[in-house]
Amino acid sequence: MTPMSDPSSDVTRTIGLSLGADLCWPACYEQIVDRLNLRVPLGDQTLRFAVERVTVEPFQLTQPCRYDVVLDRLTHWFHTSREWIKKAVIMDGLYVLNNPWSLQSMEKHTSYCAMMKLGMPVPDTWLIPPKQPTEHADVGTTLQRYAKLFDLGEVGNALGYPMFMKPYDGGAWVGVSKIDDEAALRAAYEDSGSRLMHLQKAVDPFDLFVRCIGVGPQIYIVRYDPSAPLHDRYKVDFHFVDGPEWSMLTDTTMTINAFFNWEFNSAEMLRRQGTFHPIDFANACPDFQVTSLHYHFPEMVKNMVRWSLFCAATKRTMPINLDWEPFFAIARKDLPFRERLAAYAAVGRERMEVDRFTEFCHEHLSHLNEVVWEFFGTPQAKGYVLAKVESLFPAHEVERFTEHFWGLIQFWRKTESERMSGTATPGGSDAQTPPGAVES
Ligand SMILES: Nc1ncnc2c1ncn2[C@@H]1O[C@H](COP(=O)(O)OP(=O)(O)OP(=O)(O)O)[C@@H](O)[C@H]1O
Ligand SMILES: [Mg+2]
Repeated sequence: MTPMSDPSSDVTRTIGLSLGADLCWPACYEQIVDRLNLRVPLGDQTLRFAVERVTVEPFQLTQPCRYDVVLDRLTHWFHTSREWIKKAVIMDGLYVLNNPWSLQSMEKHTSYCAMMKLGMPVPDTWLIPPKQPTEHADVGTTLQRYAKLFDLGEVGNALGYPMFMKPYDGGAWVGVSKIDDEAALRAAYEDSGSRLMHLQKAVDPFDLFVRCIGVGPQIYIVRYDPSAPLHDRYKVDFHFVDGPEWSMLTDTTMTINAFFNWEFNSAEMLRRQGTFHPIDFANACPDFQVTSLHYHFPEMVKNMVRWSLFCAATKRTMPINLDWEPFFAIARKDLPFRERLAAYAAVGRERMEVDRFTEFCHEHLSHLNEVVWEFFGTPQAKGYVLAKVESLFPAHEVERFTEHFWGLIQFWRKTESERMSGTATPGGSDAQTPPGAVES
């Protein structure tokens, strides 16, 4: 027997999926990794890959961890899993997407401050003390001694209308309101209770809204319409930015994600008069549902497969500690902003090992496009779409929406086969509403 075919020389790298309500992407991810049937040579050994779902149970802090990489969807709200992940990173060298400490401590507010410091055009933002003070034995004394009475109307005038009031650490649109005048500002403040709120100047009007979704160094840009119904917010559109804009959005997202060690994150940016303003980019557990992403879903699954296999195969060191100084050193340089941004992104690309990652994909994942294309034509894949639709939609809408999302995925297969056969460049197909799509 040659060492290559000797099963005793096989080493299995195990990827754990730490899941909540996710149904569709994990099922597709498992199928695709299985169908890739990878055998990656490593010295005189051969790496194989297994995917398992992480369970929730009591754990001893010294208990070993069976996973090499965990893709986590729970850290931001489910503390048992978050604390298990932290233990496994520290005690067992687990690699996890995303970094649980960074996710826990870096809220929207920090992300605004940090990216303003790097020179990004984040809209003008104020933080206001909460209407109802936090309960604490010292709160009365503290506020009596130090709280300065302020006129909310003056803050409103200084910032200018329209503006958005939103929690400093928010997500999922909770507590977000658009405010057009002083009366609305006062009413929203009355309603805000003990929540700590930002007031942020609205980018209004804007002519383009994009979400830039990063998985490791891969950045995927989608046009987004926040006013559309949930199933239709991610648009199927091409050519909505030009080359320099695409490069600028990519560099911006790379900078944000590398700065916070977020390997799976989505950055929202709005274009007004030719400038893209980042408005929300602390989203390190972004939407990954087929019912939102539809056409874009297969590419997102592909990006996750590539990056997680790369991390598991190479055992690259997980970036645990944040290191901001290299970014701030660039910020201090007297350079035009676009050059500084390129320099920040170069730090990010180095941290995300773009060259090594690209080489890994060429060497070991050249069949991924084909495998994913075929998989998304199978009844099994359609079954996963159906299961997700059944979990979210009322019974009488299940068939219609399953066909809708499936139709969009088949449209992706059409554009993808053109791309793979070289008759179209990436993102270069003409956008048409595919047959079977639901008009909204
Ligand atoms: N400065 C702004 N200018 C224009 N629109 C804004 C601004 N801030 C927020 N919005 C609108 O409000 C929505 C919700 O705001 P934001 O994304 O900051 O909150 P969120 O709770 O993090 O939402 P999500 O979880 O969907 O990302 C945005 O998608 C956008 O449509
Ligand atoms: Mg948002």
